[in-house]
Amino acid sequence: MVTGASSGLGAAIARALGALGWSVAVGARRLDPLNEIAAQVEAAGGTAFAHPLDVSDAESIEAFVAAAEHELGPIDTVVNNAGTSIPGRLFELSVEELRRELDTNLLGPMLMTRLVLPSLIERGHGDLVFISSQNAVIPRPLQLGYTAAKTGLEAMVRVLQMELEGSGVRATTVRPGPTKSNFGMDWDPASIKRVLRSWKHWGVQRHHRYLPAEAIAAAVVHTVTAPAGTHFDLIQVNPEGPVETSGKAD
Ligand SMILES: NC(=O)c1ccc[n+]([C@@H]2O[C@H](COP(=O)([O-])OP(=O)(O)OC[C@H]3O[C@@H](n4cnc5c(N)ncnc54)[C@H](OP(=O)(O)O)[C@@H]3O)[C@@H](O)[C@H]2O)c1
Repeated sequence: MVTGASSGLGAAIARALGALGWSVAVGARRLDPLNEIAAQVEAAGGTAFAHPLDVSDAESIEAFVAAAEHELGPIDTVVNNAGTSIPGRLFELSVEELRRELDTNLLGPMLMTRLVLPSLIERGHGDLVFISSQNAVIPRPLQLGYTAAKTGLEAMVRVLQMELEGSGVRATTVRPGPTKSNFGMDWDPASIKRVLRSWKHWGVQRHHRYLPAEAIAAAVVHTVTAPAGTHFDLIQVNPEGPVETSGKAD
C-alpha cells in the first residue's frame, strides 16, 4: 500500500513497486490522478488497485485497508508517504490547518500502522516505511506544524523499531532532501517568496539542486527488498551539491 500516491514521491514509489511485479494498492483523495498512476503501475509490470484515501480521517483509513485487503489479499508493505505543509507562522494558521498538518503527517501514519500491525506480526514479516523530511533534523521557520509532525514521525519510528525487534516486521524512516514534486505548489506566490527568504536567512538551503522522485522510490525499493534479517532503519537521500570553490586559489 502506498499512501499519497496521486502525485510526486508516492506516484514514483508505486511505479517502482509495480516494476518489481508487486500488487500495489494506491490511495489518495483525488481519484483522477490516482487512476492514472494505477495505470502506470500496471504498465510497469505490477497489479494496481486504486481507492480513495484521506489519511486525516480514521474511517477512510479503515475503509482503504479493508478494500485493499479484499482486492489484493493480506498486506505485506505499507509506505506512509502522504504529506502536506501549510506555510505561515504559528499564530497565522487556523486550528483546522494545524490539525490537518498533524493528522496528515503524524496521526494518519500512526493509525494506519496500528491497523495493519497485528496481521504483519502474526505472519512474521512485513515492511512499514515512513517518508519523513529533512525538516525533522533541520527545522524550517514558517513550517512549524509540519516540522513538529515529521520530528514526531521519526520518534514514532524509533519506538516502533524497539517494539518490533525480533518480530520480522521492519519499520524504516526514509528522509528525503529536496525533491521535485508538487509539494508546495498549492502555496500562494507571496508565501513561496516568504518561505524561500526565510530559508536563505536561516541558511537551511545550501544550493538549488533537487532530486527526481525516482531517487526516493529507489531508496524505498532498497529498503523493502533487503534480505530477511537485514534492517535499514533510516535512509537519508540528498541531491549532490555543487563543487565547493571558496578554498581554491584564484
Ligand atoms: N518534495 C520534497 O522536497 C520533499 C522533501 C521531504 C519530504 N517530502 C515528503 O514526501 C511526501 C510526498 O510529498 P511530495 O513531495 O510527493 O508532494 P506532492 O507531490 O504534493 O504529493 C503529496 C501526496 O500526498 C497526498 N495527500 C495529501 N494529503 C492527503 C491526505 N489527507 N490523505 C491522503 N493523501 C494525501 C496527495 O494526494 P491528494 O491531494 O490526491 O490527496 C499527494 O498524492 C510527503 O510526506 C512530504 O512531506 C517531500
